[in-house]
Amino acid sequence: MESRPPATATSTPLSPRTRALRTALIVVLVAGGATGVAALRGAFGTGADHRASSIVDTMQGGGNALHAGFRRAHARGLCVSGRFIASGDAATLSSAPLFATGESPVLGRLSIGGGSPVAPEASAGVRSMALAITQADGQQWRMAMNTPPVLAVGTPEAFHDQLRAMAPDAATGKPDPTRIAAFFDAHPESAAFRAWQAGYQASDSWANTRYHSINAFVLVDADGQRQPVRWAVVPEAPFTALGEGPHTDDALSREFQQRLVAGPLRWTLRLQLAEPGDPVDNGARPWPDARRTVDAGTIELTSAHAQQGGDCNGLNFDPLVLPDGIEPSADPVLHARRAAYAESLRRRARETLLEGAP
Ligand code: HEM
Repeated sequence: MESRPPATATSTPLSPRTRALRTALIVVLVAGGATGVAALRGAFGTGADHRASSIVDTMQGGGNALHAGFRRAHARGLCVSGRFIASGDAATLSSAPLFATGESPVLGRLSIGGGSPVAPEASAGVRSMALAITQADGQQWRMAMNTPPVLAVGTPEAFHDQLRAMAPDAATGKPDPTRIAAFFDAHPESAAFRAWQAGYQASDSWANTRYHSINAFVLVDADGQRQPVRWAVVPEAPFTALGEGPHTDDALSREFQQRLVAGPLRWTLRLQLAEPGDPVDNGARPWPDARRTVDAGTIELTSAHAQQGGDCNGLNFDPLVLPDGIEPSADPVLHARRAAYAESLRRRARETLLEGAP
């Protein structure tokens, strides 16, 4: 990992990472007065700041678990970029111009779950893809997707309880299987997640992994017709199981960069359309597989860079940054995410810019 000098006040030229985080901090501070506070209130009601910061406290842990300057979740990752090539088939569902035939630039980040920027990549239980697609009018669609198609639980409170249940035990430094089992026993709504987890087989690459929005969103067409959707990005690269190893800690980053040498990597953006009665406000409850799908286009990644100094590092992949024509569902977890992502960005930006974190 590249080491960077502390951010200083005056003449030293700023590194790209520091510049990106400085921009992010300014945006957060300026926006924080309006949309951030509104979002926190919307997600948690009065006293929201405490609740969002409490979730992020649990995520980051204490002592050696705290990695100053890094994301409090999905801390290890790789910046990527490319384009979204619309099929045009979703243009009747949403007025967002990016769905009309044509191309839009993409900045993204591939990552693994967890708060450690040095955790081994290949064996991580969750892999992720975050994307920011920019339309010609400047509006962006930011999304952050994970490998599971569903969450274990459907509320921010239960999600926080899950984080607490999975946190390392103070005595052993490892998660306590008894505590985790007790959490799942107390949450029968986690059945779909547990079924997915039991059948999950890791592939050997970020490139042949499928990622899911999990939360529902609402597409709005030019006449104001509303269609709730979830989506998956489905890899073009065929599945190959992760080998026994040993794997280097950065196995996925290396493998992805090597694959790119042979050419762009592609995924289909597949929308799943809810029918009346499908649960649109609970990420723990899947919709029937038989629901109609629409392939909105192709995500094509053409380059990858280390996150330190990379363009994606200062970006907050807040899933509520949406262009006109895409709206959030009422899922409370989705709204809680905005507050937590902003809190994480505030902390890492402060550490990098004011406290000299790497
Ligand atoms: C539908 C479920 C969720 C999905 C698909 C998801 C996905 C992701 C992804 C892909 C990232 C990494 C983004 C990047 O590369 O910058 C991320 C980061 C993060 N997530 Fe989530 N997440 C989910 C739920 C939550 C919830 C419920 C919370 C807390 C309330 C949360 C808190 C965070 C935080 C704090 C970060 C770090 C943000 C930053 O510093 O930029 N996530 N998530």
